[in-house]
Amino acid sequence: MAPVLVFDLFGTLLDIASLRDAAAAVAPDAAAFVASWREKQIAYSFASAIMDRYETFDAITGHAARFAAAKHGLALDAAHEQRLVAAWENVRAYDDTVPALEALRSRGATCAVLTNGTPVRSAAAMRNAGIDGLIDVTLSVDTVRVFKPDPRVYTLVTDHYRCTPEQIVFVTANGWDATGAAAFGMRVAWCNRVGAPAECFGPPPTWTMRSLGELEAIAFGG
Ligand code: LAC
Repeated sequence: MAPVLVFDLFGTLLDIASLRDAAAAVAPDAAAFVASWREKQIAYSFASAIMDRYETFDAITGHAARFAAAKHGLALDAAHEQRLVAAWENVRAYDDTVPALEALRSRGATCAVLTNGTPVRSAAAMRNAGIDGLIDVTLSVDTVRVFKPDPRVYTLVTDHYRCTPEQIVFVTANGWDATGAAAFGMRVAWCNRVGAPAECFGPPPTWTMRSLGELEAIAFGG
């Protein structure tokens, strides 16, 4: 079987820092606001899964924006909140994203996405970032109504490709997502662009890399 690489979307293929442009409309320190916003978005997704209280990633993202605004002392009316949530459709691809996907595909690899994002929002984001044509299939947690790292989410991949977890190379920049996929039994390439400390809980990734450019050697053995 040719290598199958499954990518996390937001934060791995698409750069969340590019939300700063949209955040600048409401936050003087857009970088700090976006960091708080993302941190709370992930915290609410975990809480949602543990509490068995599913709301879409769009809804969670809106709740997190309101929290981040309050934390930074900012006014955020409903229209601003909606604009911020919609801005996730215009998150830019990292510089290494398109070259890595093209190189992998040119050698026969299959590239897919597994995301917390809703099908509609994820599809728009991938289209606007110019990567939709490079992705075989986009699998969304919305199908199982629970967020990563619940094992039911990673099962979407093995069900789709009718394969075992170890036949998948899962690629993510989120340490907790790397832990979740490794615990599920996938081989995991953690993309640590920022030199973050390794996670101290759960199984480690198979590979740690600084850029998606290292994936071709990982998938095809150099
Ligand atoms: C995703 C989240 C982790 O794309 O941002 O699944």
